[in-house]
Amino acid sequence: MGAKNSKFSVLIVAAGKGTRMKSMLPKSLQPLAGQPIIAHILQTAEKLSPSKVGIVVSEKNGLLEKQVRANIKNWSLKNNIEFIVQYKADGTASAVKCASSFLKKHKKVLILCGDTPLLESNTLLNFKKDFCKHQPACSILTFDNKNPHGYGRIVKDKKGNVLEIVEENHATDEIKKINEVNSGVYIFDIPSLLSVLGKIKKKGKKQEYYLTDAIELLNKKTLAKHVIASKLKQGEGASSTFKQAMGINSKKQLAEAEKILRHKILDKLMASGVTIVDPDSTYIDANTKIGKDTIIQPNVYITNSKIGKNCIVKMGCYIVDSKVANKVELGPYAHLRPQSDIRNNAKIGNFSEIKKSIIGEGSKVPHLSYVGDSVLGKKVNVGAGAITANYDGKNKYKTIIGDNVFVGSNVNLIAPVKVNSGAKIGAGSTITEDVSKNSLAIARTRQIEKKP
Ligand code: UD1
Ligand code: CA
Repeated sequence: MGAKNSKFSVLIVAAGKGTRMKSMLPKSLQPLAGQPIIAHILQTAEKLSPSKVGIVVSEKNGLLEKQVRANIKNWSLKNNIEFIVQYKADGTASAVKCASSFLKKHKKVLILCGDTPLLESNTLLNFKKDFCKHQPACSILTFDNKNPHGYGRIVKDKKGNVLEIVEENHATDEIKKINEVNSGVYIFDIPSLLSVLGKIKKKGKKQEYYLTDAIELLNKKTLAKHVIASKLKQGEGASSTFKQAMGINSKKQLAEAEKILRHKILDKLMASGVTIVDPDSTYIDANTKIGKDTIIQPNVYITNSKIGKNCIVKMGCYIVDSKVANKVELGPYAHLRPQSDIRNNAKIGNFSEIKKSIIGEGSKVPHLSYVGDSVLGKKVNVGAGAITANYDGKNKYKTIIGDNVFVGSNVNLIAPVKVNSGAKIGAGSTITEDVSKNSLAIARTRQIEKKP
């Protein structure tokens, strides 16, 4: 929203009980494409450069504050977030009311729901533009929904003026037929909002205060066109309206959102030149970057990682918090655990697991290995089944392997240990001492034969 629009603030309401989620974890902390729902919302909010972001959380959501704070270290928003506690989760209007003193410091507020993470920043910027053009007391972001069940319906008069929003539980059969629904996103002129907030009465089985009732109240204040609906257009942003504006109330909707977001991420990657063989079985999160002409085969899962150009990630790989350079071959069924750093032209093959290790340029760990807390130089070959034993039950130790080392099959490298460059280790050896440069180390018992 830029410095000159610094009067705009953002308020995220995220203090609901999340009853329909049937989870111990607050709704906004449910994981979606590799990060909590709220992180997606804050990343979108960040792109709007608001003057300040308020997040309404419940008392129990101390966890939410902690998680958000842990997530925002590198964000421009980080000094601009204020947490507001709603002690009793008795409705969206009540959540906003809790933020009164936050609101009083600003002139306009964009209200976002803590369970609507798919909205794109461009959509919100257009929404804001529309508000600025018409200067109403309130603008509601609405969308047409084939299956409007569960959403507040936008009731309009014959001329198309917004009259009120009617929630599912209070809708007549006639109103239930309305397909234009409330996305839960609004921009309010703050003095107008504050003038009606106190007048909202609790209602329904749950005796909640609905923010949506502010609309009718604002309309009653004057006959002028006070509330407008800004309808999300089909195809606005990168995807259809439902795919942006859906709210996540249940685990089923969480899975729906996951699918939508996953396909958006994959579409972007494909548009940038990545080959995704089977988008339906590929899971890549929003924090992963992949270079051109890298091929991702089916059933691959990648989160928070960077993969370079011209790599091939074969069937069944699982990659977390790792870095992969260019022309690397992974899999089938390779597991890169956090802080794996795989350099150019390296190969991590069938059922090999790497953790917190550097695998140098051109090095190969092709079959059934475990490499943890290690640094491998260039052109190292790790034979089938060879492992680093990095853990003694209490502490973890490092294994250092120099350039051009050949580790035979089924070798145990008992860390801490160093194998200097050019050395060879005979198959089946258990290496407990450092191995010097260019030497051959064998540490196994000699074969004996017993006569029958
Ligand atoms: C709400 C809207 C509905 C809209 C839909 C869009 C109301 C009354 N209804 O319904 O018109 O179509 O969103 O997704 O607003 N929250 C609090 N404190 C509370 C209650 C809720 O902070 O006491 C937060 C929730 O954490 C959530 C948001 O407000 O992020 C919306 O609440 P939710 O219960 O999901 O409302 P819906 O029934 O989905
Ligand atoms: Ca909701």
